[in-house]
Amino acid sequence: MLKRLFIILLLSVPMVGMAASGGTSMKTANVDVSNTASLQRGARNFINYCSGCHSAKYVRFNRLGADLGLTESQVLDNLMFAAERPFDTINVAMPADDAKRWFGQPPPDLSLIARSRGGDWLYTFLLSFYEDKGKTTGMNNLVLPGASMPHVLWELQGTQRVVYRTEKDAAGNEHEVFDRFEQASAGKLSAEEYDAFVLDIVNFLEYIGEPVQLKRVQLGIWVMFFLLVFFLFAYALKKEYWKDVH
Ligand code: HEC
Repeated sequence: MLKRLFIILLLSVPMVGMAASGGTSMKTANVDVSNTASLQRGARNFINYCSGCHSAKYVRFNRLGADLGLTESQVLDNLMFAAERPFDTINVAMPADDAKRWFGQPPPDLSLIARSRGGDWLYTFLLSFYEDKGKTTGMNNLVLPGASMPHVLWELQGTQRVVYRTEKDAAGNEHEVFDRFEQASAGKLSAEEYDAFVLDIVNFLEYIGEPVQLKRVQLGIWVMFFLLVFFLFAYALKKEYWKDVH
């Protein structure tokens, strides 16, 4: 019984992975929340390019400053354009009703988006906007088809088109499937620079999804270290107690 349960568990692992990626190939983000410089750039990019529409209502500016190694005046000058007090959270100026009217649905709060979507998804999402004349925004997204979010970073990335290829399925029917992106117009950044720009944002989103994660990891190392030392003492004690019995 136990053995069967174990086999079922083992087999379900790859299936969970497949379900999460939804069939489209995901790019790997290589998120690193211990990279403070990247988090600082990500925070600036988020405030400049995302916070006009998206809130991050679980994030307070003073907490952000402390975690990212910024002084109060740096936070004031570089991040707090719309907010007034250091303990304010990242809010949007746009009333939710207007947002709904303009976009069809209000832009979601992004505090926990990295927890629900994962870093790789977010990274791939921000790299996967493509030209689509049929859409009101003129843009569509490969991982969120029909997305009502405009390609807000188009000036940096430029625009891209999807090149399809035809594939036959098992029944012999032909399907058009995604092959690759093709640059349609150039942006201000090169492809590598844009990837890095997006990675900083994803890194930042990953951090705000769980601001204590850096501390958690540090603390975990100390706990492991303590357990190791404790084990040595416990073992020595055990040997001492049992030495006359054997
Ligand atoms: C002009 C307004 C606007 C700006 C600026 C904007 N977004 Fe959005 N965003 C939206 C809207 C509207 C949606 C809802 C899209 C949908 O579900 O069709 C959305 C959806 C999203 C989602 C998908 C949420 C989900 O799981 O379905 C993510 C992630 C996201 N935005 C990230 C960002 C990031 C990162 C930035 C900054 C680079 C940004 N957005 C800037 C309007 C905006």
